[in-house]
Amino acid sequence: MQSKTKYNMIKGVVLITGASSGFGQTTANYLANKGYIVYGTSRKVVADSNINMIKMDVCQPESITAGIKHILEKEGRIDVLINNAGMGIGGSIELATSEEISLQMNTNFMGMANMCKEVLPIFRKQRSGKIINISSIGGIMGLPYQGFYSASKFAIEGYSEALAAEVKGFGIKVVLVEPGDFSTNFTANRKKSILTLENEDYTISYQKSLKIIENEENNGLKPISLAKRIDKIIKSKNPRFRYIVANFEQKLSVLLKQIVPGNMFIDILRSYYKV
Ligand SMILES: NC(=O)c1ccc[n+]([C@@H]2O[C@H](COP(=O)([O-])OP(=O)(O)OC[C@H]3O[C@@H](n4cnc5c(N)ncnc54)[C@H](OP(=O)(O)O)[C@@H]3O)[C@@H](O)[C@H]2O)c1
Repeated sequence: MQSKTKYNMIKGVVLITGASSGFGQTTANYLANKGYIVYGTSRKVVADSNINMIKMDVCQPESITAGIKHILEKEGRIDVLINNAGMGIGGSIELATSEEISLQMNTNFMGMANMCKEVLPIFRKQRSGKIINISSIGGIMGLPYQGFYSASKFAIEGYSEALAAEVKGFGIKVVLVEPGDFSTNFTANRKKSILTLENEDYTISYQKSLKIIENEENNGLKPISLAKRIDKIIKSKNPRFRYIVANFEQKLSVLLKQIVPGNMFIDILRSYYKV
């Protein structure tokens, strides 16, 4: 266990998944520069002088157990868990293979749940801790040709709301962050459904949608804006449950979803994504 003095000087111990790239890498570095002790995780471990990188696959519970044991041995505590690791699969819902569905749901949803399962007993014992779950605007609306991605993020939303209610009494805070489109390696790392590309009923519409999606991501916001928002959330004594971090149009689409009839919103999505 580290001495109390050390923790009076530093801002806390942060564990962030998916820290080898994109949001995770930028946020981990930003927080380390701000004085937090940061542990970043990913499957490929790239040495980073600023953060303590640990090899972890969020789909492999034993690698999570080992990584968390290591942090507790070193620091004696964890103050913030940021569930950020994730990926996307593009394709029609009809033609998604069971392997693609499992990969999507296991990485984005089960990965987050696996992390929380290991960290919650620590936070409960401490009677403190913050869990920041990176959802997406795709967790608020079902994005065409990103159906299972959206489903994984909707699952995170429902899970987080229930969890927040269950653990508030233990001093544990749960926060959802819903980014719009950002320029990261997410676009290049997106897996694409071959069956959708090969199907004549879907291929043209899928390719048109994908072009729009990729264009918006490539010209999206820079991850540093998300890192700054996360720093503010960590510092806040009473953070909100939900933060949308997106451009004006994307925030407007969330508002639109709340006010227009469901079928009209689906038509808006179809028209916007050229389905
Ligand atoms: N970019 C956007 O426009 C956008 C918008 C909304 C939400 N998001 C969400 O933001 C999060 C981060 O995405 P990003 O944009 O930063 O993408 P990214 O640049 O592709 O980074 C993804 C990170 O997740 C890690 N990862 C993937 N699968 C993993 C696994 N099984 N176990 C452990 N780590 C894993 C990757 O590392 P390894 O491959 O080395 O494991 C990498 O560090 C995701 O949850 C994504 O859904 C992104």
